[in-house]
Amino acid sequence: MVDFASVSLTALKATTGLFGLSKLTFIPLFLAALTYYNYDLYDPENQPINVKSINKEYDFIVIGGGSAGSVLANRLSAIKEWKVLLIEAGGQESIITDVPILSLYLHGSRYDWKYKTEPSNTACQAMKGKRCCWTRGKVIGGSSVLNTMLYVRGNRRDYDNWASMGNYGWSYADVLPYFLKSEDQRNPYLARNKYHKTGGYLTVEDAPWNTPLGIAFLQAGEEMGYEIRDINGEQQTGFALYQFTTRRGMRSSCAKAFLNPVRLRSNLHIALNTQVTKILIDGNKRAYGVELVREGGVKQVVHARKEVILSGGAVNSPQLLMLSGIGQKEQLAQHGIKTLVDLPGVGENVMDHIAVGGMAFLIDYPISLVMSRVVNVNSAIRYAVANSGPLTSSVGLETVAFITTKYGNVSDDWPDIEFMLTSASTNSDGGSNVKRAHCLTDEFYSEVFDEINNKDVFGVFPMILRPKSRGKLKLRSANPFHHPLIYPNYLTHPDDVRVLREGVKAGLAVAETQAMRRFGARYHRKPVPGCKHLPHFTDEYWDCYTRQYTMTIYHMSGTNKMGPQSDPWAVVDPELRVYGTSGLRVIDASIMPQITSGNINAPVIMIAEKGADMIINYWTQGASGYHSNNLGYPHGYVKKRDLYSNLTYV
Ligand SMILES: Cc1cc2nc3c(=O)[nH]c(=O)nc-3n(C[C@H](O)[C@H](O)[C@H](O)COP(=O)(O)OP(=O)(O)OC[C@H]3O[C@@H](n4cnc5c(N)ncnc54)[C@H](O)[C@@H]3O)c2cc1C
Ligand SMILES: *[C@@H]1O[C@H](CO)[C@@H](O)[C@H](O)[C@H]1NC(C)=O
Repeated sequence: MVDFASVSLTALKATTGLFGLSKLTFIPLFLAALTYYNYDLYDPENQPINVKSINKEYDFIVIGGGSAGSVLANRLSAIKEWKVLLIEAGGQESIITDVPILSLYLHGSRYDWKYKTEPSNTACQAMKGKRCCWTRGKVIGGSSVLNTMLYVRGNRRDYDNWASMGNYGWSYADVLPYFLKSEDQRNPYLARNKYHKTGGYLTVEDAPWNTPLGIAFLQAGEEMGYEIRDINGEQQTGFALYQFTTRRGMRSSCAKAFLNPVRLRSNLHIALNTQVTKILIDGNKRAYGVELVREGGVKQVVHARKEVILSGGAVNSPQLLMLSGIGQKEQLAQHGIKTLVDLPGVGENVMDHIAVGGMAFLIDYPISLVMSRVVNVNSAIRYAVANSGPLTSSVGLETVAFITTKYGNVSDDWPDIEFMLTSASTNSDGGSNVKRAHCLTDEFYSEVFDEINNKDVFGVFPMILRPKSRGKLKLRSANPFHHPLIYPNYLTHPDDVRVLREGVKAGLAVAETQAMRRFGARYHRKPVPGCKHLPHFTDEYWDCYTRQYTMTIYHMSGTNKMGPQSDPWAVVDPELRVYGTSGLRVIDASIMPQITSGNINAPVIMIAEKGADMIINYWTQGASGYHSNNLGYPHGYVKKRDLYSNLTYV
């Protein structure tokens, strides 16, 4: 069955299709090693099957095969009588997307939607055109194919807070079972306690390989007075080695975890390279199907007997709602789109996590992840044979810390900063992929990092957990193939600048511990362009620095927020049904009313697990009508329209 020659050729084509991969001369040898030792990876039978022809009608249509969509397709098609169609704009994963250390190559590749934010003067000043690059997965598995695989659930208070906003069913006690439902915890110690479980679809494991810096960071944390603990367990504050959604050191995207095992279900159709251009809504405001375009430009209309579920992610979901006539009336009118449901919250409430980029600390020992040293034929073979070694490293992410700055409440266990502690930094690949993925200008990179290219360093990336700035997303045009206009409004709320400033100071303190000093740790204190006029190491300097190297952690969310009817900005209700419509839900990162305190992939998977359960319960138990119905609008949204002008801080 497996035709090695042609499959390797496809893999090689995939490789050359990736920007900059040609520079990586070891790749052909690497592929040879994989072919030899791990040929089953090439087996095309392991991937989801791209359906040849799409039927006219299904029970459920899921738009977007990303983190959430993969879970939904799996759970809904578990009901044998239901016919499910999963539609994904991108294609298949490849053996390159599997390799954790190569994830930066995927930014800007054919697996990426390649969004850029509109130019700003509050953030991303060191990026080309003062625009931040918003990498988003366009591939089956979605952004879970490009992400750095960190498994972080967030803080219990995040969910209790969602519930206190009127979102019944979303308290921590309510959502914990859905985190557990997916989980296959491979650390035997963790697997035993009530916060973890084995046997789910989603493999969660410790890194098979760390540098000595990983443990040193833990010791630094102890010196700073923090506990070392499971940050996904009883308490969050403290230090830990990261856990990853990998399987034996290789990426286990949501497609691998949730779709591959059910790829032979005959009631599940998966359409790849197929983009939905519109959700079809009838005179009763019921979503009855979608309009789509397959590869080669073939258009088709597909009907949904029960529900349309939108899981396009935080950028595409609001865009598609607007294109389908659901959004702010004035904005839709500007593009000649007839408003079917006037919902002012669509595209508002853009939230993301940003970190201060590029804080590099030089060390005296050759133990960090200098790419030119660790990525070679030996490490490729070690990866292929033993599923270990530096290639399994998620670009040096080793240790996590949750800390509370002076702007938070230390007795609360609701930290406001996450540290990503890394055995590499911006300079560790000599100015190739990190610089490109972050869209840094050549001038900025050269001036700050050229002199330490490929030198041994560690990195501290302080990330703000609950930013107060809110952005927005608008249509550029009525053309579904045009990218929307993205205004993240980073750092427009002064509190965000203050919290990150304290994060930087705490980051510098990590390097001052004995644990790090024994490696000769010293901050690379090169003043950055744009801030040189400010006295170094002052608050003003750090604030300026943060606006220069503003690093998105790609946690876009909130653009179709969930809320009770009393919330004029709510787009979906606590059962994820779009207000003012029936037969339509949004289930993905866009429904978060408040971003969670940590990396958001595990929360998105949880949201999809819970959403799937709601749908199944509705249609198998409570269903009285023939479709889910939420024709009510959020109360008072007309009266409160003027709130709109207060929503952002610019
Ligand atoms: C570079 C990067 C690193 C990250 N690192 C981490 C990490 O380490 N840990 C963590 O927890 N989180 C991380 N994240 C965030 C996390 O991966 C995402 O938040 C999560 O995957 C979002 O899931 P989603 O289902 O909302 O959207 P996505 O996974 O983005 O899925 C949306 C899918 O819908 C498809 N789609 C969109 N529109 C259409 C359409 N009209 N028709 C058909 N298909 C469509 C898209 O192609 C995509 O496949 C990272 C993200 C990125 C990009
Ligand atoms: C800090 O948190 C504790 C514990 O939750 C609480 O009792 C206290 O009131 C909080 N302090 C402030 C200033 O909010």
